[in-house]
Amino acid sequence: MRRLRPAVFAVDPERAHVAAVRAVASAGPVLARVPGLRVRDPRLRQDVCGVSFPNPVGLGAGYDKWGAAVSGWHALGFGFVEVGTVTPQAQEGNPRPRLYRLPDDEALINRMGFNNDGAPATARRLAAAARSGWLRRIPVGVNIGKLKDTPADGAAADYAAALDRLWPYAAYIAVNVSSPNTPGLRDLQESSQLAGILDAVVSMNRDKASLTGLRSHPVFVKVAPELSADQLDAVVDLLGAVGADGIIVCNTTTSRDGLQSPAELRDEQGGLSGRPLAAPSLEMLRRVVARAPHVPVVSVGGVFDADEAWRRLRAGAKLVQVWTALVYEGPRLAARINRGLLERMDAEGVRDVRELAPPHVTDASAGD
Ligand SMILES: Cc1cc2nc3c(=O)[nH]c(=O)nc-3n(C[C@H](O)[C@H](O)[C@H](O)COP(=O)(O)O)c2cc1C
Repeated sequence: MRRLRPAVFAVDPERAHVAAVRAVASAGPVLARVPGLRVRDPRLRQDVCGVSFPNPVGLGAGYDKWGAAVSGWHALGFGFVEVGTVTPQAQEGNPRPRLYRLPDDEALINRMGFNNDGAPATARRLAAAARSGWLRRIPVGVNIGKLKDTPADGAAADYAAALDRLWPYAAYIAVNVSSPNTPGLRDLQESSQLAGILDAVVSMNRDKASLTGLRSHPVFVKVAPELSADQLDAVVDLLGAVGADGIIVCNTTTSRDGLQSPAELRDEQGGLSGRPLAAPSLEMLRRVVARAPHVPVVSVGGVFDADEAWRRLRAGAKLVQVWTALVYEGPRLAARINRGLLERMDAEGVRDVRELAPPHVTDASAGD
């Protein structure tokens, strides 16, 4: 990938991203036959909240907002993919340009603003993936959000409406209250607002389950790295109270601390992702695990290689996700991370991925 970087990086970042998703979508069947792209090993498989994940390396939300390339992500060795953020109806997002590469920091800044096709179109695409059997091979998380123009008091209804359409295709639900690019969204992390949204999501989830006779899906909340320690504790404490299951730590940051990139790039508005997020994301993970060792955590932010994935799993994350590293490390990233995890497990005598968690980390849902 490093050799290809100059050619790829000559293309506008958003065009390159859309082209990459299209390529993965159309090349799925071909990719499935490329040797070494997928690592299949029972030692990587685990159940989290009753969902069986073939490996712990997922694609973070916002890469395949449309649910366009599920079979391709499977072929590339991902253990799960989080589709979205999806809003109840389509919206365009912010004006372009809205995505920037910061190669000196191996980072990105984006202010996409939930550009997406809306829940009905995304549901149709996921229905096609379900008919082809892909959703049985790779768990798809559905990440939901509110429309830009919906006021805070209508937010809960937006989340529920998006879920209403997408529920049949979700392995888990991610409630995104942490994008910096929808005005006021991150204020929804405050306990009373968040409780209202989670109530609406959890009750839609239960209604769907009882209507269909199927199990309800685990509900995860995705948080921002700017939460103070107390705010993070409050979110974690709220999960049990409202019947939500886990937490995704973390979304992009508005901080620009310690960057090497030129000021004109650093000063672009939006959320920063990639290498600079690794340390804050790990710190937040540790705090959640210390506060609530039974709460499953998906760790995301600056995971670039097997060493970093190992560190997150060792710190108590059940799963990790990548986004920015795919831009800098290329399409073999998931396979490389999984292979590296297996090598380290062999070297350290770890029998399977579940054993990586520190001894005090328990899974409340184990045995589901
Ligand atoms: C261009 C771009 C778009 C994103 N869109 C979303 C989104 O729609 N919903 C969401 O929850 N996170 C979104 N994210 C955040 C990522 O899922 C992830 O939390 C963040 O980038 C940190 O991980 P990374 O350092 O591996 O990129 C987006 C990130 C990028 C770079």
